[in-house]
Formats: sequence, C-alpha cells, structure tokens
Amino acid sequence: MSRSSRSSAAIPFALAIAVALTACSGGGVHGKPGASGVRDPYFPKMGNGGYDVTHYGLTLSYDPQSKRLKGTAAITARATQNLSAFNLDLKGLDVAGVTVEGKVARWNRAGQELTVRPHDDLDKGETFRAVVRYSGSPETLTDPDSSKEGWLRTADGALALGEPTGSMAWFPGNHHPSDKASYDIKITVPERLQAVSNGELTSETTAKGRTTFAWHTAEPMASYVATLAIGEYHITRSTTKNGLPVYAAVDPTQAEAGTKVLARIPDIMEWAEYNFGPYPFSSTGAVIDRSEDADYALETQSRPVFPGAPDTELLVHELAHEWYGDSVTPKSWRDMWLNEGFATYAEWLWQEDHDGDTADKIFHSLYKGDYYENPDDNEAIWAFPPAKLSSAAQISDSPVYDRGAMVLHKIRQTVGDDRFYDIIQGWAAAHRHGNADTDDFTAYVEKMAPDKDFSEIWDDWLYGEGKPDHP
Ligand code: TRP
Ligand code: ZN
Repeated sequence: MSRSSRSSAAIPFALAIAVALTACSGGGVHGKPGASGVRDPYFPKMGNGGYDVTHYGLTLSYDPQSKRLKGTAAITARATQNLSAFNLDLKGLDVAGVTVEGKVARWNRAGQELTVRPHDDLDKGETFRAVVRYSGSPETLTDPDSSKEGWLRTADGALALGEPTGSMAWFPGNHHPSDKASYDIKITVPERLQAVSNGELTSETTAKGRTTFAWHTAEPMASYVATLAIGEYHITRSTTKNGLPVYAAVDPTQAEAGTKVLARIPDIMEWAEYNFGPYPFSSTGAVIDRSEDADYALETQSRPVFPGAPDTELLVHELAHEWYGDSVTPKSWRDMWLNEGFATYAEWLWQEDHDGDTADKIFHSLYKGDYYENPDDNEAIWAFPPAKLSSAAQISDSPVYDRGAMVLHKIRQTVGDDRFYDIIQGWAAAHRHGNADTDDFTAYVEKMAPDKDFSEIWDDWLYGEGKPDHP
C-alpha cells in the first residue's frame, strides 16, 4: 500500500489505533507492525514477519567469572512490507538501547518479543540497519522435549547451542530457520581463553589481557546453527584434499580421543562430497566441549559441536547435516525429518561403504524390530509419521530420524542406486543455501523419476500412522 492511497475512512478501528501510535512516534502513517511470529506449526512465536535479515554483525564480550555477556547486534535487513514496528526474538538479557538507521528507536519487551518502533517508518523493499545494545547473564533454555539449549556453562567457559530456539538467549534476531543470513561474530574473552564460532577466523588480537576473535560466515546461515564456544581448547588446523580449511577445537579433557577421531574429517568430507555433491561452505571442522547441561551433538554450521569424542558414525551424521539441514534448511520445524532422515541415512551409507552393515540390512532390522536392544526403542519408530508430528516435543524422536531414513531407503528401492544418488545430490544442489519443505521434496523426487509411483511411500511411510504393512 502506498503512502497516499489509503484514506482514513477505510481504516478499521484497531488498525486506526496502530496508525495513530505510529504517527505519535514520529514516523509516517503508512506502515503497520510486522507479525510477532512466522506461523511455525510447532514454535509459533519464533521468527518475525515484515522483514528479512541479510546480515548479523555481533560484537560480544564474555567473562566466564561473572558470567556476563555484553553485546551489540547490528542487524541488516530488508523490509518485506511497510513497517511502523518490527519484532526481534530475544530471551532474557537487558536491552540498553536500539537504533534504526542511526536514529534512536523506541522499544519494549514482552516475553521473547523485543518490539522496535523506528523513528521513521520503513518502506517495503528498504534495506535498514538496526543496532541493539544489550548485556546480562544469558539463560539456559529448556526445550519442549526437556533438553537444554541456549547458553550452556562449561567448566572453563560457555557454549551456545540453538536448536530449535536457543539462539535467542545470546543475540536478538529473526530466530526461525526460514530467515537465513550471513554473519560476522566478534567475541572478546579473557586472554587465556579461546573463542570459536562458525565460518572462518579472520582475526585474533590481544590487548589489555583480553583477546578478540573475529569469525566470518559468508554463506546464508539459519540462526539455530549459529554457535559460540568459549574456553580452553586444543586447536588443530589442517586442510582437506580439496584445500578446504579444517579448524577443530577440542576441550583438553577430550584431547586424545577427540583429536584422533577428528583426524578423520578430511576422509569423511571426501566421501561426503562424492556422495552428496560439492561441500556448501568455506571451511569445516568441529568443536568438542562438554557443557554442564547438555550432552548431545549439534550440526552447527561448518563446525559441528560434540559433547565428547564422537564415534565415526556420529561425526558422519553431523557432517552430513552441513548439506542436509545447514545448506538445505527446513522451511519450518515440521520439516525436521528432512534434516534427521538424511543425516541418519548418511550414517547407513557410510557403514555400507566401509565394511559395515548395508543400508538395506539396517532398514530390514528396523522393520523387523531387532535393531535396538531395548524392545521399546524398536517400537518407538512407529509412534508417529516422520512428516506429521503432533507436538514440538517430538522433533527429536526416533520416527524423525530412523523412519525418516527409512523413507529415503524406500525411494532408493524404487529408483535404484544411480537415480537415488542423483536425487540426493540434485536435492542438495537445487536448494543449496536455501530452504525447502516436505512438499518440495516429494515433488522433486517425482520429477526425477516420473516413471515411478511414490504414492504408497508418501501415504504409508511419510504421512501414514502406524507401521506400514510391507517393508
Ligand atoms: N540435530 C541434532 C542431531 O544432530 C540433535 C538435536 C540437538 C536436536 N538439539 C535438538 C534435535 C533439538 C531436535 C531438537 O541429531
Ligand atoms: Zn541430526
């Protein structure tokens, strides 16, 4: 809607109030507030409407002793509607001030919503810069599945993990996988510590007893795979055969086993590129660090995090997520199986290619129900269909992982190996650095194999309740 086309007589009452408020704040009268969520089926408050972030510039300092984080988040975004106000997601911490386009902005907070009312309305299509200054002791969050994320304390520092919502505990943003952006994360810590994040380390400078590490991620990144690890680490740098930089940081207590397994990264990367196509990022590596509250691995972009030295399968799983999850990112949390089904299937393929069980054997063992030692675990696979969760608490359950991988195996059975590899590589290429959902996937598979009928796979394996009648 243009500035002049709307006559006040046509404005409904509620909107008229919003417009009046906007006018009071000194802006134009054409904008309206952006939505406080992006209608994610499981996390309705996550993300925000009305703008699209292109870059996060985070300048942070952390002192493990006082547990205080001090930060400035410079967010560059493009308005996707005329805006009188917009929201950022931020949980905890104290906001000291906000500017938009260099002018002081009004703001207020309610729960995880930081509402910013710029001095001047933003026009649809306009690129703007919002700067939020904040500080405080970041929170550890508890997920619907009761695991911990957000800001986790470690023996010698801290670790930030953000799946599915934890990144709002350490920086304000549009915290939904559908809005990816490039990042520059600059972090200052006491001199004796290291700070590791996503992407490439572009500078490291020490002054007055504190060291500043600058990390750069040029490729689009979803905020749930942004990370920050602060502590003492054994750092190893190497390169893969293709010349890709490898940067690995290992907690000293895990140094021996950790360094040994991480030495396999170049081999795994070579295998993965052969099977999944070109690696989508500019560096790789890993972080091994033990937090007090969480003991799971996470596919943080370009540098997955592990709670201890992983076995090779777990390392393969997290590295496979760089293609499936980090580069091709779900449009919403409903599409989680596209992450976990692929990463689990990558483990099966790795085993098949390295003298372990074939994917087909694993598939049949899961179907028969003798894969896990505990019968309940074998039964749990059939609790719900991978593409139809009934609550947010289910996004990390085994139907998303194992049955998701079984869907991929069913496709492989249907199309044969050659076309299957074309499909998984083509899928990664088609949505490289983007977002995709389950409908995009089923349409893609059908396009790649127009002579085959997938309706039973979709109906029974992807969306159907209970255990399918045939393996
Ligand atoms: N994505 C992680 C993996 O590699 C597991 C995980 C960590 C997870 N945190 C989560 C899954 C939160 C769902 C929700 O498998
Ligand atoms: Zn995973």
